[in-house]
Amino acid sequence: MKIAIMGFGTVGTGVEEILYKKKESLLKNCFDIEIDRVLIRDKDKKRSPLKSDIVFTDDFDEILNSQVDTVIDVTSSLEETYERIVLLMKAGKNIVTANKAVVSKYFEELNALARENKVYFSYEASVAGAIPVIHPIMEESFFSDMNKIHGILNGTSNYILSKMEVEGSSYADVLKEAQDLGYAEADPTADVGGFDAMRKIRILSSLIYNAKIDEGDIFTFGISNIKKSDFDYAKELGYSIRLIAKSVLSQGKINISVIPTFLKDNFFAKTFDGTNAVKVWGENFSCYEFKGPGAGRLETADAIMRDLLRILSRREINTFYDASNSYEVENNLKSKFYVRTSKVNPGLKELIEEERVLGQDHHIITREINLDELKTVLDDEMFIVEIEGTI
Ligand code: HSE
Repeated sequence: MKIAIMGFGTVGTGVEEILYKKKESLLKNCFDIEIDRVLIRDKDKKRSPLKSDIVFTDDFDEILNSQVDTVIDVTSSLEETYERIVLLMKAGKNIVTANKAVVSKYFEELNALARENKVYFSYEASVAGAIPVIHPIMEESFFSDMNKIHGILNGTSNYILSKMEVEGSSYADVLKEAQDLGYAEADPTADVGGFDAMRKIRILSSLIYNAKIDEGDIFTFGISNIKKSDFDYAKELGYSIRLIAKSVLSQGKINISVIPTFLKDNFFAKTFDGTNAVKVWGENFSCYEFKGPGAGRLETADAIMRDLLRILSRREINTFYDASNSYEVENNLKSKFYVRTSKVNPGLKELIEEERVLGQDHHIITREINLDELKTVLDDEMFIVEIEGTI
């Protein structure tokens, strides 16, 4: 069976390594998988695949016109990759992708296109790295309504937060370590800005509610301006800080957000390093929890391999997502918030329950408000944290 790979960066080389090292065991189980060719951007760049005769090309049409029936996408570009996936699906090729930006932005279109063209669209690797979370949720959704999901969905942020908390490391040092470990994106803005987690909660929530949720409607606040003094404050109150992505469906409305959160000794607070954690609530069970490596080279390649084997053995779930439900999105769940700022604007002043001034900074605990209210007083200089509340 011949496949093609688009991209040969961190995850692409991981896929090649697994295919190379596990060739015999795959063959024994009737998976004779051969990489027909690999699409790369710069043909002159030196590459060292384990299988020395891998064919590299910079011509997308070679992949499009090839005989392969499944293409693995491990690129990180958005529009270009989306356009290529569309062409590949129309040409009857199954897609296995780790590209969460494309999956999130074009979730409805790509699911519909896969159905129309009778191809598989597999994206387990786009959320929570090696943890199998997409497929259990898909299967569950055939017979059980789910109404809530919470997660730590960005390995880079979790690595930074837990290292700063436990080892007192500096933000810049731990971000560099997360990059060296292959957790962070080439441009880590989406990691630390919360956008990567926002895309992942958009994918998970769309699936469990079978509804379209616009990325722009998801309240997103990252960790890029966190300071040591925020950890000191949290510690004094007995809290850890984690970047939590969450959504809940109640009375026909979805509350959905990504926000740093103070947590006390729970499942999420006990999630360290590049680990991701997901908790989902459903009709037939109270809730279940997943935890495991959420980023990394072989970790993400592992999820791609599982999708690939499902497709090749015709065990993949034909996509069912059609966004046939429609819900309003709002953020009106009540909570207290911690706000650190060097200047208290008049709107924020109205919300203060407790305030402490340390050097230049005001450390504020608000009274119980909701995110929609907090949004109206937010400015670029503030760092905000939800206090347990809706977790
Ligand atoms: N940059 C991502 C993360 C990689 O840190 O979680 C996995 O999607």
